Amino acid sequence: MKQVVWHGGHVSAEDRQRLLSQSALTIWLTGLSASGKSTLAFALERHLINAGRACYVLDGDNVRHGLNGNLGFSHEDRTENIRRIAEVAHLMNDAGLIVITAFISPYREDRAMAKRIIGSERFREVYVSTPIQVCEQRDPKGLYGMAKAGKLAHFTGVSDPYEPPEAPDMVIDTSLVSVEEEVERIAVLAQTIGA
Ligand SMILES: Nc1ncnc2c1ncn2[C@@H]1O[C@H](COP(=O)(O)OP(=O)(O)OP(=O)(O)O)[C@@H](O)[C@H]1O
Ligand SMILES: [Mg+2]
Repeated sequence: MKQVVWHGGHVSAEDRQRLLSQSALTIWLTGLSASGKSTLAFALERHLINAGRACYVLDGDNVRHGLNGNLGFSHEDRTENIRRIAEVAHLMNDAGLIVITAFISPYREDRAMAKRIIGSERFREVYVSTPIQVCEQRDPKGLYGMAKAGKLAHFTGVSDPYEPPEAPDMVIDTSLVSVEEEVERIAVLAQTIGA
């Protein structure tokens, strides 16, 4: 758009990171519904805050209450959901924060777009690989039950596809390890760029 011109500021991303004594990063959790993304994201946020890191969780359900309240679950809306989240994560990283995102983000192409928007040097993909049988048993929101009964269209793993990451930075199967262990493992990612 010709009439829209970027106006540069007087504070760099590096200035902000120095102020917060940390390196900004986005830890992108992807996986099926009930795989444990939100549980893990909020436990990790607590852990990082306790360790003196400034961080923030962008959670799928929470974001759909506000910013993305006008979006549904069609492929097109899921892509727009991820695009907006990635732009918000990018802004938060620019502000110096460590961002943890908890979105099913089922499409490889959408996650690649998120990585482009955020920047590959700040993007870490964590595949929450909990098997679908375990997710179905957990079913904390009763969604698998509804989808299997044909009452919920576009439900990932039942009536919509999930495309697993091909080269994630980390894989976590929450049916095998405790939340505490998962947090310890992922927290290492936040230290790999000299935070
Ligand atoms: N080791 C574990 N790590 C994470 N969650 C676990 C673990 N063991 C059991 N759970 C349970 O699994 C469920 C995971 O649900 P959660 O809401 O975190 O999933 P989600 O991936 O965010 O799903 P959605 O995409 O629907 O938001 C919770 O009820 C949680 O208590
Ligand atoms: Mg969730």
